[in-house]
Amino acid sequence: MLRNTTSGYGLVAIALHWLIAAMIVAMIVVGMYMSGLELTDPNKFQLYQLHKSFGLTLLGLVVVRLLWRFANPAPRLPATLPDWQKAGAHLTHLALYLLLIAMPLSGWLMVSASTLGIPTLYFNLFQVPHLPVPGFLGEPAVAEATLKEVHEALAYLLIVVVVLHIAAALKHHFVDRDDILTRMVSTGPGRYGIR
Ligand code: HEM
Repeated sequence: MLRNTTSGYGLVAIALHWLIAAMIVAMIVVGMYMSGLELTDPNKFQLYQLHKSFGLTLLGLVVVRLLWRFANPAPRLPATLPDWQKAGAHLTHLALYLLLIAMPLSGWLMVSASTLGIPTLYFNLFQVPHLPVPGFLGEPAVAEATLKEVHEALAYLLIVVVVLHIAAALKHHFVDRDDILTRMVSTGPGRYGIR
């Protein structure tokens, strides 16, 4: 039940999928909200700290998820699925993994380059060290501005890929009426018995 089989996901993969999905939505909503707040807003500092703490947690969860996936290959896609759809699914999943690594890393690098020197306090438990910022990004103020642009652009790209991913899952469920979506919800036998 914990591990994936050739036809279905195990509990660990399912739990990681929905936890990470919920965190992505929260990170994007909070990220956009907090960066629009006035500098004088009393909640701004705390929201930034929470965004950074949850973002670093998400990075850790994505690494765990990737390791789990290497140890537990994902179940097969239905044999009836056209090759282009299989290729599209693999490409979308790869893009999601890459973005979920690049997003938190660009945020972490951005705060590391910042000339304000604001510490990152992980849920107020300890201070997270700053990353070394690559020299080709220029002097700190320039690097910070570039990384802010990158972080924002990646967020928009992530929104596009997530929307595609959700649209494909809904098409499988309501149009193709296969088990692709339900097997990410439960480990039980497929609703249509074609797993
Ligand atoms: C998957 C993880 C993450 C997602 C989806 C995410 C998403 C976002 C989004 C949508 C924004 C608003 C961009 C804008 O409209 O300007 C934002 C801003 C920000 N993020 Fe993240 N973020 C993630 C991880 C991180 C991490 C790990 C850090 C730092 C350790 C971080 C630091 C920041 C900061 C400082 C801002 C504000 C930039 C500014 O307004 O100056 N983020 N993030």
